[in-house]
Amino acid sequence: MKAVIFDLDGVITDTAEYHYLAWKSLADELGLPFDKEYNEKLKGVSRMESLELILALGNAQYTDEQKYQLADQKNELYKEMIKKVTPADLLPGIESLLKELKEAGILIALASASKNAPFILDRLEVTPYFDHVVDVTQIKNGKPDPEIFLTGAAKLGVLPSDCVGVEDAEAGIESIRSAGMYAVGVGTPAQMQKADLIVASTSELTLDLLKSSHANRA
Ligand code: BG6
Ligand code: MG
Repeated sequence: MKAVIFDLDGVITDTAEYHYLAWKSLADELGLPFDKEYNEKLKGVSRMESLELILALGNAQYTDEQKYQLADQKNELYKEMIKKVTPADLLPGIESLLKELKEAGILIALASASKNAPFILDRLEVTPYFDHVVDVTQIKNGKPDPEIFLTGAAKLGVLPSDCVGVEDAEAGIESIRSAGMYAVGVGTPAQMQKADLIVASTSELTLDLLKSSHANRA
């Protein structure tokens, strides 16, 4: 294992919940039956694709301009929520894992679909741990396509097979696996069916666990 490539929302910090709350507010306003179960489909998926999934819950037709306006409305609400993020919002064990990885000389990258990712890393005060943050505006195909994780590996100068990817979304696990990387899923076995290794909480993620699981991969 030469590198670990992290997702952000739901792995480094619980902004996945804020994304849900902001979409829920928009869906309520539009009278669409959006709930937590349906929200699983949105995890890891880009802003505009998420909007399309929500609008598919109703029959109304929107112009592109209206869609951009709705996506902006959600993003403004989301941005209000993340202004309050502090280092105390790092998920359990994440900071000690980042430290352990750094000390062991393992490279670290971020592969998040969120345009707000650099802002959130700064709010969490963990930007310096990252050797590379993939610029999502340069990515043509979002998760589950492998492009974002492959770009991370290429920017770090390591082979995909030497990378571990950490995700909380089905689309993210698929992206990692099709990139030819070892996939670690944070969540329940039902949500993380395709992961190589599943942990219920980020507190279980340690250098030892990642290294030995990657070394013993099938
Ligand atoms: C992903 C989230 O990290 O980023 C998705 O899991 C979100 O829920 C996507 O839609 C895009 O985020 P943003 O901040 O650019 O709207
Ligand atoms: Mg996520």
